[in-house]
Amino acid sequence: MSAASRIRKAVFPVAGLGTRFLPATKTVPKEMLPIIDKPLIQYAVDEAIEAGCDTLVFITNRYKHAVADYFDKAYELEQKLERSGKHEQLELVRNVLPEGVRAVFVTQAEALGLGHAVLCARAIVGDEPFAVLLPDDLIWNRGPGALRQMAEVAGRTGASVVAVQDVPREQTGSYGIVATEAFSGREGRVTAIVEKPRPEQAPSTLAVVGRYVLSPRIFDLLERQTPGAGGEIQLTDAIAALLREDPVLAYRFQGTRFDCGTHLGLVEATIRYALDHEKLSDAARKLMQNALDELGVVELE
Ligand code: UTP
Repeated sequence: MSAASRIRKAVFPVAGLGTRFLPATKTVPKEMLPIIDKPLIQYAVDEAIEAGCDTLVFITNRYKHAVADYFDKAYELEQKLERSGKHEQLELVRNVLPEGVRAVFVTQAEALGLGHAVLCARAIVGDEPFAVLLPDDLIWNRGPGALRQMAEVAGRTGASVVAVQDVPREQTGSYGIVATEAFSGREGRVTAIVEKPRPEQAPSTLAVVGRYVLSPRIFDLLERQTPGAGGEIQLTDAIAALLREDPVLAYRFQGTRFDCGTHLGLVEATIRYALDHEKLSDAARKLMQNALDELGVVELE
């Protein structure tokens, strides 16, 4: 991967079944669940655009029309908002996909795993480094977004970069876990990566979260993958092959990550965004206090 190359293409694998949010996800894709007024996918898209991406590749399945519909132009709605003078709302609707940014949709015919979903983007991405963002990992941040931080590292070093954070050891079985050389600042070279290891077998407690900057070499390696953990084609296994050929850095990003693929993570993210919201913050604080009072929760630990 050549140094100083800008990351222009971002891949959003959103073809999973979202079983943890049934029955809601019977009709609403997980990525369309909102935090306040924006669906999860919009937060990830905004992060990619902020990092400099202008081509967004969505890996969807035939049930996820809502994602494509959301990024399509809504002529009737825009006309109505314009006629009724609702300019603020009109801007919100138009800025879902700013000018100069294009969206491409690729169908993953069968949910064969995250690695397979990324491989579906090959024809669009071609031979350049690219980003992968999993929208259910929502990263809250007051400074530069996580992907922007990672794009800077990739541009400076020419390496592939995976976002990591420390997790409690009992949770390693829910993540890809890396072993690294000693960290210099926020970066450490990955020496091994393993998908969902049991706590006693995990090489560390440093977990990969849903942000990657990858060399296009990953596609050849994904082509060769056989099903791994959970019977799925795993991105982690292809990264394990990549790091035998090319540098891969683990990057401890600045920001707080919410796992919105879980019930509690979605609740936690909603609370955080409400408390940090310029219009909702005070009222949100009060209604949380009221709820605690009514439920008889006297003191929080
Ligand atoms: P998850 O492990 O979160 O699976 O996938 P899921 O199906 O979305 O959700 P649950 O576990 O059933 O509730 C991680 C990411 O990989 C994508 C998912 O959409 C999610 O963004 N993915 C997974 C695909 O795009 N295709 C696949 O075949 C598998």
